[in-house]
Amino acid sequence: MSDAHSPRPPRLIVGQTLFFGADPFVVSAHEAAQHDNRGAILIENGKVAARGSAEALRAAYPGVEVTDMGAALLLPGFVDAHVHFPQTAIIASWGKRLIDWLNTYTFPEEMRLADPAYAATIARRYFDLTLAAGTTTVCSFATSDPVSVDAFFAEAQRRGVRAVAGKTCMDRNAPSGLCDTAQSAYDDSKALLQRWHGVGRLGYAITPRFTPTSTPDQLFALGALWAEHPDCLMQTHLSEQVDEIAWVRDLHPEARDYLDTYERHGLLGERGLYGHAIHLTPREVDRLAEVGAAVVHCPTSNSFIGSGLFQMAALKARRLSVGLASDTGGGSSFSMLRTMAAGYEIGQLAGSALHPAQLLWLATAGSARALHMGDKVGSLAVGSEADIVALDLASTPAITQAAARAGDIWQAVFPTIMMGDDRAITGVWVGGARC
Ligand code: GUN
Ligand code: ZN
Repeated sequence: MSDAHSPRPPRLIVGQTLFFGADPFVVSAHEAAQHDNRGAILIENGKVAARGSAEALRAAYPGVEVTDMGAALLLPGFVDAHVHFPQTAIIASWGKRLIDWLNTYTFPEEMRLADPAYAATIARRYFDLTLAAGTTTVCSFATSDPVSVDAFFAEAQRRGVRAVAGKTCMDRNAPSGLCDTAQSAYDDSKALLQRWHGVGRLGYAITPRFTPTSTPDQLFALGALWAEHPDCLMQTHLSEQVDEIAWVRDLHPEARDYLDTYERHGLLGERGLYGHAIHLTPREVDRLAEVGAAVVHCPTSNSFIGSGLFQMAALKARRLSVGLASDTGGGSSFSMLRTMAAGYEIGQLAGSALHPAQLLWLATAGSARALHMGDKVGSLAVGSEADIVALDLASTPAITQAAARAGDIWQAVFPTIMMGDDRAITGVWVGGARC
């Protein structure tokens, strides 16, 4: 059991620090970030109590316990804004596009999580893998079985992590073993959110999988539930693959577009999270911007399943809230380092090279903001929760020799973003407690 919230003496973590005070898509990297070669973070009772130069904080808090991470870069723990923890074991499954991939690999595996022991095993494995990768907050789809939601939240609670999840609702176009009904989706989701939402660091997201697997009745029922619980997030998928969009058009000829199939059922709002959002029409972009909803970029998934190129520059130019996510197991890595690298590569293919500051911001503050928890995680601002990752910027010979040429922090961190893996993660703190 984590001791993240019990009173403990303050402690100082020392290393290189990099804090963002603003969005580097809006202001320059130089204006957005503050870097200190020898910085420190003071932790007290699971929160950031102070930050500054190591020298100043050591002088201000004499006798405080110090953990010196040397030249490691201290950042907010990564925030993964869209994952499917039940797909942990089917990550890297070969050769299918979205709908075939769901039918061949995903649905059979999700059915297995009806067994509480297996669901608990997968939840444990999932948090082992993500914490080892420096990810301290996730927003996950569960399966349609409430057992999987309980397994996820119980494990998150045991680890003391801030986490969001929801029962994935489906009442058509899926195996009968995974299908619920409009009424049971409403009832089960309501019972789960009453059990878990706001308990410690946990939050509930109302979760229709995507338009093709919910009847209009189910979409309406979940829209009604969201209206009754507007402080919950709502997560789903939007415009991931061209075939999927054509299917949605066939199912909903009355709708203006894919997004409209959600809006008509009460499933568009400021606390809505729309995963993928690749092939958006201008009207959909306008509408998302108008309501202040968030879209979530899932770059390793978008290349792995062959979905397309997310239009980061255009969407950020419209001031859309954008999160970054691994989308495991459609995504091919649990690591937000690998996810940032894929985000960079997709940006290049789409015509804009994302700055390292933009990638790091997306993986921390950007995702936290999309999840409406920017005041709690993702920034290490004083008063926020002390979820921290320490990155070794010389974790392999290839990275070391590339970083050796760096003239500034951005050049020093970029080889780790592009080539780093779990070997770069030298420390992870959750609520101030080291994992
Ligand atoms: N669309 C509907 N369900 C899923 C899923 O599980 N993964 C991905 N990548 N897309 C989806
Ligand atoms: Zn997904």
